[in-house]
Amino acid sequence: MPNPSLRFDIVTLFPEIFSGYLSQSLLAKAIERGLIDIQVHNLRDWSIDPKHHKIDDRPYGGGPGMLISVEPVIRCVHDVQAMNSTTGLVILLTPQGERLGQPRIEQLAPYGRLILLCGRYEGFDHRVVEILKPLELSIGDFVLNGGEVAAMVVVDATIRMVPGVLGDEQSSWEDSFSRGNRMLEFPQYTRPPEYLGHCVPEVLLSGDHQKIAQWRKEQSERRTRERRQDLLPGDDA
Ligand code: ADE
Repeated sequence: MPNPSLRFDIVTLFPEIFSGYLSQSLLAKAIERGLIDIQVHNLRDWSIDPKHHKIDDRPYGGGPGMLISVEPVIRCVHDVQAMNSTTGLVILLTPQGERLGQPRIEQLAPYGRLILLCGRYEGFDHRVVEILKPLELSIGDFVLNGGEVAAMVVVDATIRMVPGVLGDEQSSWEDSFSRGNRMLEFPQYTRPPEYLGHCVPEVLLSGDHQKIAQWRKEQSERRTRERRQDLLPGDDA
């Protein structure tokens, strides 16, 4: 089988968190078809403490919690890089990172290989950042218990960019935010045409494709204006 077009290496202290996610059908099919490959690595395997497999320590200068030590992370990334001939872009998931958005997601897939470092506790010894110079990404202005959920977000959004991952009938092309599109999606309906007095808008039942397209465009614009002023042209917030 040819090399997959996108390989992820996820470095985590909690590999089991990923098993349910990885077995979901869209992902499992993409892996089976050789389009993507996802390898999960337990950082504890690179502990320099053979007895207790410890990978964390108290911060210099005091303060609450524990930090992930520099040495296991550097050794781990070195070994993981060597597992494949494509050099992976190293990404560190952290609330201190660049806020993730669709333009960044679209840039990631062409790298071919992404190494995702998931933090826990109070984060990493800063020398991890100094030495590896990772792309630091945050999925939003809130603090998670670890980078694992954020790593899943990166995987989930990025694989949509890999040709063939989505079925023919699905497409990332018209996604909100894709390829410079900065409009929210219009509302959609399916059967029945009426439920508890709530009717599907007449125009969608009309069969007039031009009218339907116009209605959808208006709805998108209206939603965006009402909910996300910041996405409208001229507002670079
Ligand atoms: N780890 C903890 N919080 C995070 C966030 N908001 N984004 C990415 N990684 C995180």
